[in-house]
Order: sequence, then C-alpha cells, then structure tokens
Amino acid sequence: MCGIVGYIGKRQVFPILIKGLKRLEYRGYDSAGVAMINDNGDLSVYKTKGKVADLERFCEDKDISGTVGIAHTRWATHGEPSSVNAHPHYSESKNIAIIHNGIIENYADLKKKLVADGVKFRSDTDTEVIVQLIEYIQTRKNVDLLTAVRFALTQLIGAYAIAVLDKRDKDQIIAARKQSPLVIGIGEDEFFLGSDATPIIEYTDKVVYLDDDNIAVIRRGEDLKVVNTLNDTLNPEICTVDLDLGQIEKGGFPHFMLKEIFEQPECLENCMRGRINVEANNVTLSAVIDYRRQLLAAKRVIIVACGTSWHAGLIGKQLIESLCRIPVEVEYASEFRYRNPVIDSSDVVIAISQSGETADTLAAVNLAKDNGAFVYGVCNAIGSSIPRDTDTGSYIHVGPEIGVASTKAFTGQVTVLLMLALALGKEKGTITNEQYSKIVSELCTVPEKMKSLLKLNDRISELSKTFTYASNFLYLGRGYNYPVALEGALKLKEISYIHAEGYPAAEMKHGPIALIDSDMPVVVIAPHDEMYQKVLSNIQEIKARKGKVIALVSKGDDTISKIADEVIEIPQTLECLEPLVASIPLQLLAYHIAVCKGKNVDQPRNLAKSVTVE
Ligand code: F6R
Repeated sequence: MCGIVGYIGKRQVFPILIKGLKRLEYRGYDSAGVAMINDNGDLSVYKTKGKVADLERFCEDKDISGTVGIAHTRWATHGEPSSVNAHPHYSESKNIAIIHNGIIENYADLKKKLVADGVKFRSDTDTEVIVQLIEYIQTRKNVDLLTAVRFALTQLIGAYAIAVLDKRDKDQIIAARKQSPLVIGIGEDEFFLGSDATPIIEYTDKVVYLDDDNIAVIRRGEDLKVVNTLNDTLNPEICTVDLDLGQIEKGGFPHFMLKEIFEQPECLENCMRGRINVEANNVTLSAVIDYRRQLLAAKRVIIVACGTSWHAGLIGKQLIESLCRIPVEVEYASEFRYRNPVIDSSDVVIAISQSGETADTLAAVNLAKDNGAFVYGVCNAIGSSIPRDTDTGSYIHVGPEIGVASTKAFTGQVTVLLMLALALGKEKGTITNEQYSKIVSELCTVPEKMKSLLKLNDRISELSKTFTYASNFLYLGRGYNYPVALEGALKLKEISYIHAEGYPAAEMKHGPIALIDSDMPVVVIAPHDEMYQKVLSNIQEIKARKGKVIALVSKGDDTISKIADEVIEIPQTLECLEPLVASIPLQLLAYHIAVCKGKNVDQPRNLAKSVTVE
C-alpha cells in the first residue's frame, strides 16, 4: 500500500530515489512521484500516473539535481490514480512537500475546516490535508517545521508513514509513523528512508525501525534524532539488517513470482534450519521453549490472517487440532477485529502475515492482546509491525517476497505451523513418538520433492495454453487439500483475472455442480490418500457433465489418469504434508495461464503486496 523512499546526504538523490521506488513498486504502482530540493534551492515535485519507469521518462528533461529528496509509489485509496492525486503533495505555498502511506480517516472534517479558513486544495487525496494542515499551523502559530508536524499529527485519526521536505531547509527531512511501516537507514553522513529495508540495504545495514507516534528529525551532518508528539527525545534502537541484494533481484527469471516459486526448496530448508534436527529427530522452536507455559495452557487457539495467510491458517487448524488436540478457530482478521469476539487469557492467538504489516491482522493482534490472550506471530518480514507487537513468534525465513501473488510465503507459513504443532504436540504428549518421527523425517524430504515438481514447469506451461479461453475455474480438494484448492483459485484470479472458486470436493454437489459444462475447467487435487475414492467419484461426476478435469494425482496413478483431461503427477507424501507439494503445480498453473494471457504477473491490477490500510 504505497512505497516511501527518501535520502539526504552527499550523493545525487534522484537515482537513489528511483532505484528505491523500483524496489518498493510491489507496494503500489498506479502513480509515482519525487520531490527534491534542486541545487538552485527550488523544491521541485515531479509526478505522473503510471509506473516508476513512466516517472523516470517524465523526468528526462527536468532538473533532477540535488542531494535531498523524497519519493512515492502509490496504491490509490482516496482519489483515482492520476498525476494530480499522485504524491508528493505540495502545501498551498509550495514551500512544503509530503509523501504518505496510510489513510487519514478524519481527512474530510479537517479539509472542511481548512477550506473554510481559505486554504486551497489541488487534489482529492487525504494526504494533501496533512501537508496543508502542517503549513496552516506553521504560518498561523509561527513555529518551526518540527513543531508544526507534531501539532498536525495530534489532529490526525488514522494510519500514516510520512516524510516532509521544506524548501527553506535543504538539510532536513522530517518523517513520522503511526501503524504504517517506516525504516531509516543510517550511513556515513547520509540517511535513507524506506517503507521497508529493501531500498536501503545497498548502502547500509544499519537501520532504525520507527515505532508508532515516533517522529524522526533527519538532519544532514547530525545524528538521527527521534522524538514523540510531545517532543520528548527517544532512544531509537539501531538494528543490523541481514539481507543481501541478490535476494531482492530477479536472478535471471522473467518475473519475481516465478523466481519465488523456484526458490521454495531452498526456502523450506532455510525455514527448517536450526529448528529440525533429523539425527536427533527433534523439532525446536525457541518460542515454544521460551513460552512453554503460556502455550501449554491454551484452551483454544484462534488463528487470524488475511488472503493467502488465511489459507495457511486453515491448514494450521488441521495440524494443531490433529497433533495437539487443541480446538482451533480460523478467522479473517478483518471480521474478527470488528465483531466483538469472545477472547480471554486462556486463548492463544496466532497471527499469520507475510508482510507483518497487514492493517487488519495488526488490529486483530492488538485486540487479542487487549483482551489478555497470548499472541504468537508467524511472519516473514523481519522487524515488521506484527512481530514487534506480538508476545512471541517464529519467522518463516523465506526471504523477501516481491511478486504480489504470495507463493513461497505460503509454503513457509505451512511449514512453521507444522513445526509449531509438532513441538507443542510433543510437549503436550498428544502425538506418539512414532507419528512424530515419521512426520519429521518425511518433512525433511519435502525440499527434494519440490525440486522434482519444479521440473514440471515446461509441461505446465504447455498445458496452460489450453486453458486461456476459460472465464471460470473450479478448484476442488478435501482435508488438507481443501485450503490448497482455495489458494490455487486465489492465485489464478489475482494474476490472470479469471474467476476461480475453491471448494471442498464433496460440497460440489450442493451447488457448484450446476456450473459444470464443457467450458468449465475443474482442477482436482486427488492424491492417493484416505479420500482418494471419494474424490474419484467427484471426478466422475464432473466428467459425466462434460467438465474438463485437470487432476493432481500421486505418481503412478492409473485410474484418474485415464479419465482426467490433464494429469499432473505429484510425489507421494504424508497427508499433512500434501499442501507443501500440491501447491507448487497450482502456483505454476496460475503463473503460466497469466503469462499466456499477457498479464502483468508481478504487479496485477488493483492489488498491492502489503495491505496497510483497512
Ligand atoms: C495473495 C496475497 C494476499 C495476502 C494478504 C495478506 O497472493 O498475497 O492475499 O496473502 O494480503 O498479506 P500478509 O500475509 O502480508 O498479511
């Protein structure tokens, strides 16, 4: 939901801003802009509808000199995507420019008051209200920029990460955050700003993750100063980021999504590293050791998440219920936070989020904490808000996920949830030693099984061409594979814009079967497990109505292979591990169909990677 970049130092700022925006483009890509104080002291704002590459072209004949600037790539919330609504926004006098990620909920009230006092607005955005308010306070109260920003922030309701530049002081950027991420990179006589660390790591590994209600005064030639809205000086913690550049580049793949699909065997190894000891046949999660008492006391687990992470949560429910015998509820974070749920101190709430910044999941975390629950985070982005707000948790360690459609984070989340269920089940004594050993040793074979599945890439690419005609798809699975069906359908719809629905296979006859005709492709996950015969019957029902079946079957299957239109063989594994293998061909199928249809796979329309607004 919008990416923010900033720089102040000795280098030319424009290339740093553009490169940074490109790294953050996954957060939003409907318009982009920069504000810089040029060598001649002008505060120039250049912005345009479209992608960062469009902005670069737009600036070709502009004065892009200067060593201080801020930049933004937008995902529209208030006001359509257009050059006027693109950030940065000027104050009325054009002395101040601002970039913002978040939503100001009371912007209409504030705007009304400012307009009544004669302030002239140029855009439809909530963001412009902030910069106009800052200038209004600055001029009416005759105060410096920091004081004006502090006073303005106390009037805002909502979420923000902002950076502010004042033409009259080319040596300063002021930045602040509330519920939207903001990272400051500290170099030698230079500072960087980013919505996450990816625009910064090329220059420095020293960063400060701003906390809510923190305001950073970033001044050339001085140490970083952080204050709160009352102007008390705070002591920010300087952290070291452990991220290398190769992890955030495409590495020869045409899209990040394909690269991330292919990274999964390695990601899973990273996720398990130091946690699974095959020789000792042991799973160790430090959070389970450190918070054993709280976790063992759980009378119920509530999983909160959105989108793909919610699908991983549905698998987590089955794992925890079957291995730990604790009842589990899985909630959409957006519903949970607003429906006055029953939560108490005997609940453990697990929040799953790749980005660690999803606004609804973060709000659900805080609601759970306020009601006394013990909160456990399962996140990917190190240092993001959810891991910082939860009582404990486990990172999935799959590296930065840049493609908007989540792939490696899903399999990483499932793996962490499985390790959690195993570690907890062992502590509770709800899992036999034999069951435990069998799962642990089989889990260690999954990366190799994933590698064998990735060899199907060319075949799935070919097969995809047959299905670009479809305007609807159905995905069916049972048990652990029902959430995989939901996830397969989500992948297809978000990147190819084909309508797709996931269903538990047995539910088909309660409605969706009416949709089946010769134009309807149905993806059926049908490995050789306990449900095989039942799913086979569903396939026959589909074929009897001339539906096209793409079946995921276990290697060597010779029954479904004869009746399905297309067959993709997956390696045999334990039922609880099937999602880790079955999801790979479905990710590839969605990817190739979208590529065949000429869609922008890494940046699908209307979506953004990190949903930091409600
Ligand atoms: C789908 C997708 C989204 C996210 C959802 C939650 O491919 O990426 O559905 O899963 O927006 O995001 P996180 O996991 O960052 O909380």
